[in-house]
Amino acid sequence: MCGIVGAVAERNITAILLEGLKRLEYRGYDSAGVAVFTNNGTLERLRRNGKVAELEQALAGEPLVGRLGIAHTRWATHGAPCERNAHPHFSGSDLAVVHNGIIENHEALRERLKGLGYVFTSDTDTEVIAHLLDHKLKEQSDLAAALKSTVKELHGAYGLAVISAKQPDRLVAARSGSPLVIGLGLGENFLASDQLALRQVTDRFMYLEEGDIAEIRRDSVHIWDVNGQTVERETVQYRDGAEAADKGEYRHYMLKEIHEQPAVVQRTLENRLGHDHVLVQAFGPQAAELFAKVRNVQIVACGTSYHAGMVARYWLESLAGIPCQVEVASEFRYRKVVVQPDTLFVTISQSGETADTLAALRNAKELGFLGSLAICNVGISSLVRESDLTLLTQAGREIGVASTKAFTTQLVGLLLLTLSLGQVRGTLEAGVEAQLVEELRRLPTRLGEALAMDTTIEKVAELFADKHHTLFLGRGAQFPVAMEGALKLKEISYIHAEAYPAGELKHGPLALVDNDMPVVTVAPNNELLEKLKSNLQEVRARGGELVVFADEQANMSDGEGTHVINMPHIHDVLAPILYTIPLQLLSYYVAVLKGTDVDQPRNLAKSVTVE
Ligand code: F6R
Repeated sequence: MCGIVGAVAERNITAILLEGLKRLEYRGYDSAGVAVFTNNGTLERLRRNGKVAELEQALAGEPLVGRLGIAHTRWATHGAPCERNAHPHFSGSDLAVVHNGIIENHEALRERLKGLGYVFTSDTDTEVIAHLLDHKLKEQSDLAAALKSTVKELHGAYGLAVISAKQPDRLVAARSGSPLVIGLGLGENFLASDQLALRQVTDRFMYLEEGDIAEIRRDSVHIWDVNGQTVERETVQYRDGAEAADKGEYRHYMLKEIHEQPAVVQRTLENRLGHDHVLVQAFGPQAAELFAKVRNVQIVACGTSYHAGMVARYWLESLAGIPCQVEVASEFRYRKVVVQPDTLFVTISQSGETADTLAALRNAKELGFLGSLAICNVGISSLVRESDLTLLTQAGREIGVASTKAFTTQLVGLLLLTLSLGQVRGTLEAGVEAQLVEELRRLPTRLGEALAMDTTIEKVAELFADKHHTLFLGRGAQFPVAMEGALKLKEISYIHAEAYPAGELKHGPLALVDNDMPVVTVAPNNELLEKLKSNLQEVRARGGELVVFADEQANMSDGEGTHVINMPHIHDVLAPILYTIPLQLLSYYVAVLKGTDVDQPRNLAKSVTVE
């Protein structure tokens, strides 16, 4: 999704801005642009539809040299992806604005500004901000003061960075609903929507909070809070190089991230398991006290994280005996919700900045939940900051837009939550917890065994390369795994894929099955296996080709039109984590065969910071 980078320095900042944009590329975007107050004393911009590399090439031909600048990668929301709609947006020739988020009242503002004589050159909501700010500057010449008055009229979400040729010693910024971070240098300062964009120039950061306005000069930073009061924000220093992104021996980040799963699952378990029980304090010092009161769980998330929540529902109800509801955040946030007494509100998110999930958490605070827990991969995210309790997944930075290692570490986090709630509330037998703790310790090894099937799955992928539709089937906790498998396939290979609980097949989708519609299913050896086998017979009887990932003890074998891939045996509770791996690999290899942009699939963004 959109990315912002800004810099005010004594040196030429164009290369810093470009490098920042490249580091944000993984988030997904469709155009890029830069505006620089040049050493000639003019504000100049260059924008390109397409990749940052195209902007870089254009800049090589038409260099912009200056010490103050802002840059942006745009993921289109208002107006098609094209150069005219790319940021930065200008008002006149002196004012440049970049914006992440959505301005909901842009149409009314546009009409008003047109009435004042402003001429619009793009279809974006952002251009409204540029002209409104220009209008305010006529009454109030100070840039930060004019920005404060501008944002009062904006409804929606924004992370904004602004420069003006008339005040070329500063960069001003505003945050509401879309993250911004200031990077602190020596005699130079920076701004970005994600600190990763600035790691090449600094390791010291200051995170803006909701409603903050900042004025960033070469040698000072001034921040006002939502009430207009001057505030200090804490400076955070990062020393490790763990975020350095590189594909290593792998062809794509996605494949690298799939293969990292044994290690990151191991890391997610570290310091969280006692000899025979889960360490409840892993969720925070107040967790035990809060968990003891929990009688209900409401999970809210989006996309892949929502699928993790759906798996957790099976665990929470069957192991901890706690009723659980799971809902996508974009629905939950706009629904009139009836909250059961003593309900724990759980959000799940890789990024911790997903707009709908964050809004759902904020709404939930008004609804009388017992407390909130975020299961999240980014410790410095808004979701973590705003939740009562946190469990950080230790997946490390996930670059591939399609989530893989974030999902399996979320599942691990959710199983730790289930065992903790069962333990604290006395609803889970100690022997069962001890056995599952033991199984969790073995999980990284089992995941490694599943990854060793890589070449077998690569071969199976050939069956899908010329197909247009696929069905994924699962029963019980494997149904959300099938949903996640279908989501992965559609995201990166653009093959239409749908998931169904296997028992639903004959209630409609069976009509679709023919020899052009492969059916993928996951079949651990559990009490639902025989029922699943009958469902698969229904598919075969209609000529549907089957790909079955089956437990090695399930006694299933290849037959005509049936491809069985044996999986290492695993305890049924952990099966959803293990069976995710072959489905990730399958989507990956199908996408490679189809030649799609695996790490940055079309139309998608890594961190969905607009609703
Ligand atoms: C799919 C995918 C998305 C995200 C969703 C939520 O591969 O990555 O469906 O899971 O956008 O994002 P987070 O987890 O960052 O809240």
